[in-house]
Amino acid sequence: MAFKLIDLPYADTALAPAISAETLSFHHGKHHQTYIDKMNAAIEGTDHADASMESIVAASRGTNQGLFNNAAQSWNHAFYWHSMAASETAPSDELKAKIEEAFGSVDALKEQLKARGVGHFASGWVWLAEKDGKLSIEETHDGDTLADSDFNPLLTVDVWEHAYYLDHQNKRPAYLDAVVDGKLNWGFASENLARGTTWTYPA
Ligand code: FE2
Repeated sequence: MAFKLIDLPYADTALAPAISAETLSFHHGKHHQTYIDKMNAAIEGTDHADASMESIVAASRGTNQGLFNNAAQSWNHAFYWHSMAASETAPSDELKAKIEEAFGSVDALKEQLKARGVGHFASGWVWLAEKDGKLSIEETHDGDTLADSDFNPLLTVDVWEHAYYLDHQNKRPAYLDAVVDGKLNWGFASENLARGTTWTYPA
């Protein structure tokens, strides 16, 4: 079963000016599509052909780097699109309480997300994640993912240069300011926390 590129959960103009329609046309329409296409080509006719994306990520980790990179990036980008919203949504009472317990306040968490994103060396991902009932900020490098980890990822921000170069050039802090202050989908994070298990790529 070949995987399909998921549709963006909003219009391609919804995230502007933080993330423009032009960026989304390349980032979703070209980069994400290419990860999906390469993963589909790699699993066709193999034991992975009918597996879930999450199980392909787990099975290829450390054993098939090419497949892992494309499967993990296919998953990460889908999770990232859902981590954004046209306007910032509100966290559930449960998520807000967990944020306040771990970081002091939503605003303090936002500042830490930005700082970790700015400080992340080269390409990768910054995550808000939950494990054993506690929230933390995690980072993964290149295409690495929390999809098959012990963490329950709640939301993520892509800090690869292709996520922001057309809109902010090399200014990653400007991208993070724009996204973290106004475009985070706390509703999605709340759903992930309430479910208590890792989000799955639509079959
Ligand atoms: Fe990306």
